[in-house]
Amino acid sequence: MTKETVSTVTTTSPDETRGEGEKLGRTLKPGDIVLVDGELGSGKTVFTQGIARGLEVDKSTPVRSPTYTIIHEYKGPVPVRHADLYRIDSADDLDTVGLFDAGYEGVTVIEWADKLEIGAGCVKVELKEVSDNSREITITDLRKPLHP
Ligand SMILES: Nc1ncnc2c1ncn2[C@@H]1O[C@H](COP(=O)(O)OP(=O)(O)OP(=O)(O)O)[C@@H](O)[C@H]1O
Ligand SMILES: [Mg+2]
Repeated sequence: MTKETVSTVTTTSPDETRGEGEKLGRTLKPGDIVLVDGELGSGKTVFTQGIARGLEVDKSTPVRSPTYTIIHEYKGPVPVRHADLYRIDSADDLDTVGLFDAGYEGVTVIEWADKLEIGAGCVKVELKEVSDNSREITITDLRKPLHP
């Protein structure tokens, strides 16, 4: 059975949000999937930049919303796939981008993941804009307890 852990934190700058992403990134293992949701401009990409840093993706690698290309891939000790489903509106489109091809040996981070009905075994991150510079971040960890 999966024991769900939920944590909420409020940040007051992009750097702080990046720092929260970095903390999560350090706990991720190959095969993990992180679902990142929140309105436009809520900080999904900033948080993902932190995840990449926590996974030791080279600092010179730009981490930006892959809105038009759908998926970016970053090299590192653990490869990272960064997807943005803003422009995806059918399961067929998803097949096309190959996001759920079996056996990916890295970490997958998906912005606008609530377009999909997935969640089991994933880490869910929800960002809310509280004010101009403040964001409430809720992380729900649905990974298995025996996760190595
Ligand atoms: N505490 C904060 N955390 C994160 N971003 C913040 C914060 N305060 C202000 N910002 C600003 O909010 C914006 C967040 O942009 P970001 O591209 O990460 O959002 P997004 O959710 O990925 O948007 P999109 O849906 O367009 O991809 C940035 O301009 C950033 O500087
Ligand atoms: Mg984004």
